[in-house]
Amino acid sequence: MRIIGAKDYDDMCRKTAHLLSAQVILKPNSVLGLMAGSTPLGVYKLLVEWYTEGDIDFSETVTINLDEYVGLAPDDPQSYRHYMENNFFRRVNIKPENTHLPYGFATDKAEECNRYEAVIRKYQGIDVQLLGIGHNGHIGFNEPGTLFEKNTHFVRLAESTIRDNSRFFESESDVPRFAYTMGIRTIMQARNIVLIASGVGKSSILKDAFTGPITPLVPASVLQLHNNVILVGDEEALSKLV
Ligand code: F6R
Repeated sequence: MRIIGAKDYDDMCRKTAHLLSAQVILKPNSVLGLMAGSTPLGVYKLLVEWYTEGDIDFSETVTINLDEYVGLAPDDPQSYRHYMENNFFRRVNIKPENTHLPYGFATDKAEECNRYEAVIRKYQGIDVQLLGIGHNGHIGFNEPGTLFEKNTHFVRLAESTIRDNSRFFESESDVPRFAYTMGIRTIMQARNIVLIASGVGKSSILKDAFTGPITPLVPASVLQLHNNVILVGDEEALSKLV
């Protein structure tokens, strides 16, 4: 694993946006694995800026997101599809048909998971998977205890995730209880992984994930087994690691 230290949140976003932008410049038809949440917001903002200035072209790029809530329509302001459209897709020249997220309204859950895995296969896998980390060590919505051999699957969110994510909703009871997520196996098949983290709140779990035992109880610890992981963290997030 390589660790790239950043001064603060803005610096972490800049460094991450440079990595993604280099990937797209080197391989315009890259398959980027993307995510929602608060950590990548500054990354998407920079990529949009650089696109607007003519520095990056997403016309051939494909994106495949990690996860989506179950029971929210794509145009629901709380859905991850809406988040991605609002913060990234609609603001750059990516083709709508090249953007992929699980469909939160699917009637057949198993079929939706299979469909999603088939999408990833169709593009011959993910070139760079961007990841965040939950306070409980989750990656995607692979909560503590998830088997490492899972592909895309339907999950019940952990109580701690529901609490954490309630900041995006009016009340905790509005947070969906279920989601689709790429599994650990799906994530581990990505050719490169960039995990980003900011703030002192993530420092303990980063230490557990990258220096502790590899265990399903800390899902991100599996990344110790991946050959091409870059961790981009700001000083606070890395304070217990370096
Ligand atoms: C989001 C996702 C989650 C988040 C994680 C951190 O698509 O898969 O694993 O990356 O919960 O979220 P933030 O960035 O809000 O702290």
